[in-house]
Amino acid sequence: MLAEKPYLVEREKPLSKKEIAQALRWAIEAELDAINFYEQLAELIEDEKIRHVFYDVANEEKEHVGEFLAVLLEVDEELAEFIRKGFKEVEEETGIKAKLQ
Ligand SMILES: [Fe+2]
Repeated sequence: MLAEKPYLVEREKPLSKKEIAQALRWAIEAELDAINFYEQLAELIEDEKIRHVFYDVANEEKEHVGEFLAVLLEVDEELAEFIRKGFKEVEEETGIKAKLQ
């Protein structure tokens, strides 16, 4: 578990730009895992109020993905171009148009 021994905290020098980008990708991965975790738990809970809390927290994690992605796009200047290329390729091949902004 990352929180058990976070190597990032033990560092004596600041993270490089490349390392910050890597940390942001890990953070996004953790948020996506959390979304799946909370939604899967919600689907197993019959109590509507408790299920609602799990879905609500899952939605908060989705916002966190957006926050980390916004920062990652600032740090990794090539990423936005690769993402645009991916969106374009999917649209050309399938007609699916990405709905981000
Ligand atoms: Fe989160």
